[in-house]
Amino acid sequence: MGEHPAAALDVLRDPADWKRNTVVYQIYPRSFLSTDGGPTGDLAGVIAKLPYIAQLGCDAIWLTPVYASPQRDNGYDIADYHAIDPSFGTMEDMQRLLDEAHALGLKVIMDMVVNHTSTDHAWFRASRESRDNPYRDFYVWRDPQADGSAPTNWESKFGGPAWSLDQATGQYYLHLFDVTQADLNWEHEPVREAVYAMMNWWFDRGVDGFRLDVINLISKDQAFPQAPPGTDGRQFYTDGPRIHEFLNEMHEAVFAAGDRLTVGEMSSTDVEHCVRYTHPDSRELDMTFSFHHLKVDYPGGEKWTAAPFDLLALKDVMSHWQTGMQAGGGWNALFWCNHDQPRAVSRFGDDGVHRVRSAKMLATALHGMAGTPYIYQGEELGMTNAGFTGIEDYRDVESLNMYRILLARGVPEPEVLEILRARSRDNARTPMQWTSGRHAGFTSGTPWIDTCGNEAEINAEAAVADPDSVYWYYNRLIRLRRETPVITTGVYELIDREHPDVFAYLRRGEGETLVVACNFRGHPTSLAWPSELGDEGTAELLIGNLDPAAKPEGGALQLAPYEAVVLRVPV
Ligand code: GLC
Repeated sequence: MGEHPAAALDVLRDPADWKRNTVVYQIYPRSFLSTDGGPTGDLAGVIAKLPYIAQLGCDAIWLTPVYASPQRDNGYDIADYHAIDPSFGTMEDMQRLLDEAHALGLKVIMDMVVNHTSTDHAWFRASRESRDNPYRDFYVWRDPQADGSAPTNWESKFGGPAWSLDQATGQYYLHLFDVTQADLNWEHEPVREAVYAMMNWWFDRGVDGFRLDVINLISKDQAFPQAPPGTDGRQFYTDGPRIHEFLNEMHEAVFAAGDRLTVGEMSSTDVEHCVRYTHPDSRELDMTFSFHHLKVDYPGGEKWTAAPFDLLALKDVMSHWQTGMQAGGGWNALFWCNHDQPRAVSRFGDDGVHRVRSAKMLATALHGMAGTPYIYQGEELGMTNAGFTGIEDYRDVESLNMYRILLARGVPEPEVLEILRARSRDNARTPMQWTSGRHAGFTSGTPWIDTCGNEAEINAEAAVADPDSVYWYYNRLIRLRRETPVITTGVYELIDREHPDVFAYLRRGEGETLVVACNFRGHPTSLAWPSELGDEGTAELLIGNLDPAAKPEGGALQLAPYEAVVLRVPV
């Protein structure tokens, strides 16, 4: 599918394709707003804040899982796809949420977890009853090796082995995540039929799309090979042998019938696969989340270490995805943050004195790119990492596992805690900061996890009241995207790859080019004006995070610490 960029542009330009012209707001309902004084957020809380999201300018929300679940992995362990977890509310609340969102012009995208279910799901409970239960093949069961050990040496993504022995039936089941998240067996046709029927059931209720959790892991190499030393087995199930076939089948069985947005969360993966997942001719998905740009602070690929990020690697990775997806006619989901990632301002910006400015800079760098932007709750306020000091502050199953594993490896506790402070998924899961009041206005009771403690300064009430806030800057970026088609369709080109401070790129359209220039450092710097853009005097400022903004002069653009600008030139 290696088409020329010009061919890709025809795909990008399809005006009917709202999915390529939308901005999505991600909600982690558990940490969003509790309306009943309970420890966790609820659907009524989401409904109450829909106008806040519409006012920001987004036109869709993505809700992380709200289905019935034992909440071992905060809802990514689904026990019943057809029920709402009582901690969030009822199916009536969900229907009201859909109606109220639609009345405000907001589409609703639900999270769909079908690589695995909770071991509490009725399918798994039946499956584990006996080897000849009709549901046995819904999951991946294998005999132990001759010495009784697990069928393969694959590792779980949350640490520890990926197989657990079921004593009663003498076989192991596969779980790429927690022991309570058993992998479904996608080779078994009744599984696929049951999943498609369930998805259609949700569409009949009026949802507008799905975010498909770790969807590129569903097709496993049926030989179940051993992982070579130093690897964890992911090469045997990432973008696996039948993945494109399964997604195409899902598309025809579910998505083709309506104008539905599908975004796949792609673990590990590569551009070639993602072009195939998202090219309209493939009839698989609309867009993909890839994570390579969020590994530029993992030295040697190791997440569980506290290290600064590598700006050159960040530029290279993001440029590779921008140009590769454009050239092939694929489509990126753009994001810095989600419920699994530390806060961007703490990670790539400055959460101290330049917090507001660097949060706006990061927003500019991302929202100037080709793709569909996603904003994670609190990102529009410049919310920071949690800053937790003791293990008792953490709630996330992955963080708690890694705490034990790192200690067992002999890493001293203060260092383990420093690593968690930088890496834990709980950094994104602290309560949304609505007000400067008690628990940031999240609940009148005791929250399930502590706030960051900086709600006096960082909260939605203050941000909405301040025209210079991060919130209103996002709003301006969203409006700029709508008014400036070249942001959606223009050809991406990195400039000054080696610049140690600045991430700058062009978006080339017909008769106009945008220059997006972002200083990722806390000191001033200078970017040479690209000579092919001609006279710098013709540059028009579209948006900037400082007033007055940098202007190209004397062949250069002088950028203040964490300054960002988007300029338009008539070439
Ligand atoms: C995805 C989710 C994450 C979850 C995992 C297992 O990565 O975003 O929160 O733990 O899948 O479902």
